[in-house]
Amino acid sequence: MNAPAPMNAAFYDSLAPHYHLLYPDWERAVCEQGKALSSLLRDLGIGVEDPVHDAACGIGTQTIGLASLGHNVTASDISPGAVQRLKTETQARGLQVRSQVEDLRDLHGVPSGTLAAILACDNSIPHLLTDAEIAQAFKVWWDRLRPGGVAVVSVRDYANIPRISPDVRPYGLYYHNGCRSLAVQVWEWDGEYYDLSIYLTTETRDEKCETRVLRSKYYAVSIERLCGLFANTGFVNVQRRDDVLFQPVLIAQKPNAA
Ligand SMILES: C[S@@+](CC[C@H](N)C(=O)[O-])C[C@H]1O[C@@H](n2cnc3c(N)ncnc32)[C@H](O)[C@@H]1O
Repeated sequence: MNAPAPMNAAFYDSLAPHYHLLYPDWERAVCEQGKALSSLLRDLGIGVEDPVHDAACGIGTQTIGLASLGHNVTASDISPGAVQRLKTETQARGLQVRSQVEDLRDLHGVPSGTLAAILACDNSIPHLLTDAEIAQAFKVWWDRLRPGGVAVVSVRDYANIPRISPDVRPYGLYYHNGCRSLAVQVWEWDGEYYDLSIYLTTETRDEKCETRVLRSKYYAVSIERLCGLFANTGFVNVQRRDDVLFQPVLIAQKPNAA
């Protein structure tokens, strides 16, 4: 039994209704990321009929993109609010996606040896705060993948990020339905960890303003270490690709003979 990750669930529950405001155009991101991942999966020999599970689906940036292209995708996330929004978004698009609330270190709802691919995109893995927690997740993923199946994660390249505190990182000033929103991240470092605060200000047409502050924590695990953890679990052909998404993508394969 894994230690619960209540902070992540609470953080993403609060963020779920507003998550699209972190993008200049979330619908476009869904479409572009879906196409990019579909093309990567095709390169890896995985077609639209092959079962793919998004283990950190959030509100569905990658899940919806892949499902819209006809992929056989299921989804889970630790945040009930995010999963509920994914359900609303898929229903609105007439898409059939089975989704549930689940920790990516457990995946009890996924049978062993069945998946062609497991995804966890947009820096979800560094929400696990120790190497042991990440290794536990990779062990479970190994079990759920069929022989030859792949794990696909996208993460920040922390080895190349200067550790400045506070590090103020604007997402940008965006317009949604004629209303402005301004989102800013603030990182405060503590060794291998940093506390994240997202300040999200939304302005309505009648110039009323509301600011929310949401806080979480990340483990700035390096790509090198993640590759090592994949290899220690028994994954092979571990590779980094910088030409797929806006973050580096790591791909690790369960051997065909396993
Ligand atoms: C930055 S969001 C990315 C969500 C989605 N992949 C996207 O790009 O929109 C990180 C996601 O990881 C999820 N997460 C964090 N820890 C998790 C865990 N232990 N198990 C499952 N999901 C987790 C969060 O709830 C959140 O939805």
